[in-house]
Amino acid sequence: MKFDIQKRSSEQLQGDTHDALVVLWSSSAKIGKDLISAWINKALKAGDFEHKTGSVLQSYGMAGVQARRLVVVSCGEGQAKDHKAAISAAWACLKGAKVQRLGLHWASDVQPDQVQQAVMALAEASYSYTTTLSQAKPRVLTQVRLSAETVTAAHQQAVVKGHATVAGIETAKEWANRPANHATPSDLAAAARAIAKAPKLDCEVLGPKEVAKLGMGAFLAVAQGSAQPLRFIVLRYKGGKTQDAPVVLVGKGVTFDTGGISMKPAPEMDEMKFDMSGAASVLGVFKSLSLLRPAINVVGLIPATENMPDGLAVKPGDVVTSMSGQTIEILNTDAEGRLVLCDALTYAERFKPQAVIDIATLTGACVIALGAVRSGLFASDDALATALQKAGDVSGDLCWRMPMDDDYAEGLKTPFADVANVAGRAAGSVSAAKFLQRFAKKYPWAHLDIAGTAWKSGAAKGATGRPVRLLLEYVCQLADAPVVSPPSARRRTAAQSSV
Ligand code: BES
Ligand code: MN
Ligand code: ZN
Repeated sequence: MKFDIQKRSSEQLQGDTHDALVVLWSSSAKIGKDLISAWINKALKAGDFEHKTGSVLQSYGMAGVQARRLVVVSCGEGQAKDHKAAISAAWACLKGAKVQRLGLHWASDVQPDQVQQAVMALAEASYSYTTTLSQAKPRVLTQVRLSAETVTAAHQQAVVKGHATVAGIETAKEWANRPANHATPSDLAAAARAIAKAPKLDCEVLGPKEVAKLGMGAFLAVAQGSAQPLRFIVLRYKGGKTQDAPVVLVGKGVTFDTGGISMKPAPEMDEMKFDMSGAASVLGVFKSLSLLRPAINVVGLIPATENMPDGLAVKPGDVVTSMSGQTIEILNTDAEGRLVLCDALTYAERFKPQAVIDIATLTGACVIALGAVRSGLFASDDALATALQKAGDVSGDLCWRMPMDDDYAEGLKTPFADVANVAGRAAGSVSAAKFLQRFAKKYPWAHLDIAGTAWKSGAAKGATGRPVRLLLEYVCQLADAPVVSPPSARRRTAAQSSV
């Protein structure tokens, strides 16, 4: 899908030859002397159109208007939420209409972030998964021309950012939606390699031998029951200076979670193909980075494996040694996410990161606690937690900070190893985070539990592409902010500036 934005007056609009034209009407829109304005005014007066978000007015083949279809939709006060609702209402009118080229015009002044919202809302409304359908219908909508009476460089920038974000979200959706037999650990590695073909990116993929050599005993334990070989994917985006400490994103890449020997019940087990949504979001962020190229260094780590029962599978009670040297008693093989993540967290130390964020469909308990609205945020570092929370608020991809008191780790104690991989049922998402924290002591760390937010169940089941927007917003904020120099350099700069 191509997007661009141009300055157009409402008179000019009439002559544009789109398949469909959508006019976004907010309460501050001015009624002009052109045809479309007169038409809207008539409907407003008659009470057939109102300043209520999602209210629509449509016409086909209106005399004097070149676009075949015309939809006017109210976006109320013009808030981000209103934009999203207005665009999906307009799209609902156009869905079956085979619209290839769409015009989207603001009848009042528009802010750059609203433009970005609109790009993302339109992409979301027109997205559908097709990869494993025998008759895949490609997306009909290919070209979107945005327009308003005033368009600045900031609006252009918003389109670029919106488009890059969409590319990331759709990458994440695609991989999370694919069934496990079309998204194996090797398939994820191939996807990472393909993304890393772009400038400033590279990708390294480790297999079982290399992972064994690194001593990743916890990750290996999960993978040992699967016929699909594990992959450990290392993505690097180098937009900053060589010496700038990177942000590391770690995505849980369990391509299918049967539970292993502690097997899950049959109903809805198919949904465990989404258990690599954390990995998918990391792929998505890297896709966006390849297009946006912000001035920052980012590392992506994806431990990818299936969790299967097998003659060779790890058994409840088995004790394994993690890369950190800590021994773990695997009391429940269904608590596998923390096992693959803990070794990736230890691996992250080598990058001397400024922050490490892991993203995982980690616990059913988080779904119970927060539902599908907010991702669970757990952090050992207050500044990092605040930054992520803010990135969530700004992007609309929300999260909520959860407690991390040490008392929540009591249940992880065992006489047979340094730590057990499960505690009781109570506060299950917190004890999972406390387990991970043991492996993330050497850098500021945060964990996002996306079990409730990464996908939707029910009739419209599918991946949401979350939390790509949150992560991208966080990373771009850091890139815009002045790069924090190492402590020694900072001291020097202070001395120089006082001369
Ligand atoms: N992948 C699941 C978590 C999950 C559950 C994600 C529901 C999405 C929806 C994870 O590996 C898991 O099985 N967790 C267990 C942990 C328990 C055994 C301590 C859970 O939440 O039940
Ligand atoms: Mn599990
Ligand atoms: Zn899992």
